[in-house]
Amino acid sequence: MQGRRILLVIGGGIAAYKSLDLIRRLRQRNASVRCILTAGAQHFVTPLAAGALSGQRAHTDLFDGEDEADIGHIKLARDADAIVVAPATANLMSKMASGAADDLASTVLLATALPILIAPAMNVRMWQHPATQRNLATLRDDGIHVVGPNDGAMAEAEFGPGRMAEPIEIADAAAKLLSDVPHAEVPERSVGLQARTQGAASFEARLRLAPQDEEGGSPLKGLRVLVTSGPTHEPIDPVRYIANRSSGRQGHAIAAAAAAAGAEVTLVSGPVALPDPAGVRTVRVETAREMLAAVEAALPADIAIFAAAVADWRTANEAGQKLKKGGNVPPPLQLALNPDILATIAHRTDGRPPLVVGFAAETENVVEHARQKLARKRCDLIVANDVSPATGVMGGEQNTVHLVTADTVETWPTMDKGEVARKLVARLGELAKAQANS
Ligand SMILES: Cc1cc2nc3c(=O)[nH]c(=O)nc-3n(C[C@H](O)[C@H](O)[C@H](O)COP(=O)(O)O)c2cc1C
Repeated sequence: MQGRRILLVIGGGIAAYKSLDLIRRLRQRNASVRCILTAGAQHFVTPLAAGALSGQRAHTDLFDGEDEADIGHIKLARDADAIVVAPATANLMSKMASGAADDLASTVLLATALPILIAPAMNVRMWQHPATQRNLATLRDDGIHVVGPNDGAMAEAEFGPGRMAEPIEIADAAAKLLSDVPHAEVPERSVGLQARTQGAASFEARLRLAPQDEEGGSPLKGLRVLVTSGPTHEPIDPVRYIANRSSGRQGHAIAAAAAAAGAEVTLVSGPVALPDPAGVRTVRVETAREMLAAVEAALPADIAIFAAAVADWRTANEAGQKLKKGGNVPPPLQLALNPDILATIAHRTDGRPPLVVGFAAETENVVEHARQKLARKRCDLIVANDVSPATGVMGGEQNTVHLVTADTVETWPTMDKGEVARKLVARLGELAKAQANS
């Protein structure tokens, strides 16, 4: 399930606790998981637990302004390869079968054309009730896939069908479902709609309704992209720090462009005065050591782009209290080497992202230094730029970059940082595709 994105809807049943294990199992298979919890589900498990296990904030509220500005219910309904509903309560099944949309989960389930797998779980009498069986038949007719329920002892000391399938069975069913779904599809919206209304909504037909097709291509769809951005701050004492002039504009623009290209993006950002890009999971850090930890926690990734201007050194003797002036003698500042984040990740033998991109900010011999950096750090591509004060690149709106690989150098004209980001993302899409086909 490498690189596949699952939207997991957790319903308000006693089996919701098993969904936490399901998140773990899906991630073990290298799928990424984003969760929606119904109001009922939150009586059994917390959004905090689901968010911590999935590594992405869990969503709960249709009318949450922050959520809506961040990803929005329509994007939630689109930005995945499949939706798994586990546990699927009798109530959720009924809402899905009737087309109700009165909370985030049901609205997303109605607003999607993605393949859906449900794992029903309920009391045996609820399961056997003609209403539930009618809803089940409708859902099957609508092309929705079902795993379980199993026979077994129920929480209420009853025995029979209604027990949710085990997380491993659900993960297997999700993997099977995704094996039928290609990573990218050709736009054929009308065909998909027709197939669905005729009750023959195969996974392929449902996929053809996918949103990116309307928007003219998603070169990074299905890929996980990790971007670092901004400077790092290395404290001298509680109020002073070592920093650099990076604004984060280029890294943030790349994260936004990768999200717009359909990728699932994690942005690890040092301290910047920029808003978090929409549709991107942003992790804010301060120091180089925190940035490395956040980057490692965000792996696996298919593409890693290290655009942050990480401080090479930190103070070896950070003071616990504000340093006092103490006459005319400055305090002795000792420096220690910071971890080299790019080299650390690019040298990994286990879990190295297939495409590692570094940035080289140079003030002289830009291309030559970039070549040396490419070899030393073992990355696949260096984006080199001249950051001499005269260029105004650091903190500015524009950038002039050279793309340096082991055999080639390509110099791009001076462009807005957003344009550089879009061009770079398009190029990375081509490289990822070439890698996948080789
Ligand atoms: C302790 C408890 C356990 C429940 N377990 C289930 C269950 O396993 N399956 C189910 O369909 N409903 C179950 N319910 C009822 C649902 O929580 C209720 O129908 C709720 O409206 C479901 O909301 P949701 O489908 O939006 O999550 C349970 C309720 C309680 C109080």
